Amino acid sequence: MKEIAGTTGLIFNEPLLWEKGQKGRTAFSLPRRDVEKHPVDENLKGSGPDFPDLSEVDIVRHYIRLSQWNFSVDSGMYPLGSCTMKYNPKTNERQASRPGFARSHPLLPEPLSQGVLKLMFEMEQYLTEITGMDAATLQPAAGAQGELTGMLIFFSYHRSRGKARSRILVPDTAHGTNPASASLCGYRPVLVKSNKRGVLSPQAVDEAMNEDVAGIMVTNPNTLGLFEENIKAVADIVHDRGGLVYCDGANMNAVMGIANMSELGVDLLHLNLHKTFSSPHGGGGPGSGPVCVRKHLEPFLPVPRVINKNGKYELSENFPDSIGKVHAFYGNVGVMIRSYSYILSMGPAGLKKASQLAVLNAAYIKENLKGTFHLPYDRPCMHECVFSDKLQEPYKVTTLDIVKRLMDYGFHPPTIYFPLVVPGAIMIEPTETESREDIDLFIESMKAIAREAQDQPEKLHDAPRKTKRRRLDETAAARKPRLSG
Ligand SMILES: Cc1ncc(COP(=O)(O)O)c(C=O)c1O
Repeated sequence: MKEIAGTTGLIFNEPLLWEKGQKGRTAFSLPRRDVEKHPVDENLKGSGPDFPDLSEVDIVRHYIRLSQWNFSVDSGMYPLGSCTMKYNPKTNERQASRPGFARSHPLLPEPLSQGVLKLMFEMEQYLTEITGMDAATLQPAAGAQGELTGMLIFFSYHRSRGKARSRILVPDTAHGTNPASASLCGYRPVLVKSNKRGVLSPQAVDEAMNEDVAGIMVTNPNTLGLFEENIKAVADIVHDRGGLVYCDGANMNAVMGIANMSELGVDLLHLNLHKTFSSPHGGGGPGSGPVCVRKHLEPFLPVPRVINKNGKYELSENFPDSIGKVHAFYGNVGVMIRSYSYILSMGPAGLKKASQLAVLNAAYIKENLKGTFHLPYDRPCMHECVFSDKLQEPYKVTTLDIVKRLMDYGFHPPTIYFPLVVPGAIMIEPTETESREDIDLFIESMKAIAREAQDQPEKLHDAPRKTKRRRLDETAAARKPRLSG
């Protein structure tokens, strides 16, 4: 039978709504007129906007089909390392769309905003409890903005002590946004190499640390998925020379209820609510990157801050040493509500369990895939594990080929070519929300791909074969996106 292009299989070709429109179709019916007829004002007549005429079913199918071309945590496993793409429970959405929250406005007076202010106040307390810090701000709109906020706080702290410093130490296993945020604040990032175990050595920090260094930015667990086991010794060295310790806590999903960041010597850390605390992540936002600090940095937190005065919540600007505002109004409140709902529904024991399962799942994948894929750091991992394409090199199969083929098996690709310390990196973060069966299926798929790499490498070079769009020139797609058709 002759196949008619684009009309068979799961993926349909989908024209633009303008191409689908047929004169005279409508998707609504007006109720019968129950008032007197009046002639339409001549000024309101005309050709009208160029909108297509469509029926309800045309519109519904159009958007459902487009949504099926996408991949999401609701459609399958999304093991994108460093992004913690865990499933977001629907109750979080329900809480955020309650009319009291959804219809509140940032310009409403404080007495009419007590509910949302209370939520923000309590949210700050939960985050300080989870991290072991003393105070927090919810204002930053993303992890990277939390980093910039942290750097501005470092700067203000040093200035208040009469000596501005100009450099920040950044390990080679830090997240890429760390050095960028430090430079945006005017600091010069100084690279510190990790040791053979993939972590910072106190010796390397000792050599790099001097009186001109404002502090160190440590991603912990780091981007190799390894816990920075020398963090306390590193913090002591930095503190001894007057510096401060920044922790990129966006990987907190591995250590909730397990590591107390304050006891590890951290002065300030940021969190990614859109990673660890189960609010949607991706598509450019909105996100939320709260910053938690120890007591000595609290005076510098952004304003306004939510305070509780005699049982009433208020927004206060009365913090003279504050770095000022970093976001319009108070940050992305909708994201905070979702994460608040998540924290309450999990409770302390649930959050700890989530971290334990996130680590267990990553360790299970690491143990099952080592030998099939090259494992550059064969050590106990935290919430993610990093492989490379070294064992597939003889078949001229690369990391890109492997993960594109994984799409044909129904999985979102892991993060690739990052962290930079591992050439051809494949960074897998399953998260705690995947079941044993789905993880086993993922492992089986990766093993099948490794066999294909050996026996039929063209299948990988050609992948993905089953998606709406085949392999793109990703650079050209980013530089010259075609946004229609
Ligand atoms: C470890 C780490 N730090 C910082 C960031 C930056 O966060 P954002 O993308 O919200 O700016 C990310 C992003 O996922 C991350 O994984």
